[in-house]
Amino acid sequence: MMFFAPLLALAAAVVVSAQTTDPAIIFPDSTYVWTSGSTGTVSWAVANIMPPTCGDDVNTAIYLAQNNAVIGEPIATNFSLVRGTFEIDPVPNVDATAQYQVALFANTSDPTDAGSFSEDFTINSA
Ligand SMILES: *[C@@H]1O[C@H](CO)[C@@H](O)[C@H](O)[C@H]1NC(C)=O
Ligand SMILES: *[C@@H]1O[C@H](CO)[C@@H](O)[C@H](O)[C@H]1NC(C)=O
Repeated sequence: MMFFAPLLALAAAVVVSAQTTDPAIIFPDSTYVWTSGSTGTVSWAVANIMPPTCGDDVNTAIYLAQNNAVIGEPIATNFSLVRGTFEIDPVPNVDATAQYQVALFANTSDPTDAGSFSEDFTINSA
């Protein structure tokens, strides 16, 4: 029986990879302060992410969010997840509060893609 365990594990991994998995956001976290009109960098975990083929439309998006709900239009789209980071330039002009999040969507073409949300962080006025 032990001999077959690795094959079973491999089969399970293949099934899971058919769904969209949103990488965990590393920062911004609660220690971050962004300023409207300046730049802000989003970083996420890149383990087990396959690179897209050159020229692919990659259906990725980053939004600002509050209370685990996205706000307005995406602030970044169509970037490769393999990068692990994206610089938002400029940070949108929004009301200053300490309750912003960023939400990362790995595949906006997948209606079940719920996004992964950062911790709350601060955006200040310019
Ligand atoms: C997405 O990025 C790819 C690769 O850079 C590019 O070929 C494609 O035109 C872009 N699609 C959109 C909708 O911007
Ligand atoms: C994105 O989701 C759509 C719809 O589920 C799927 O057809 C497509 O293969 C997915 N793209 C990637 C890169 O996973």
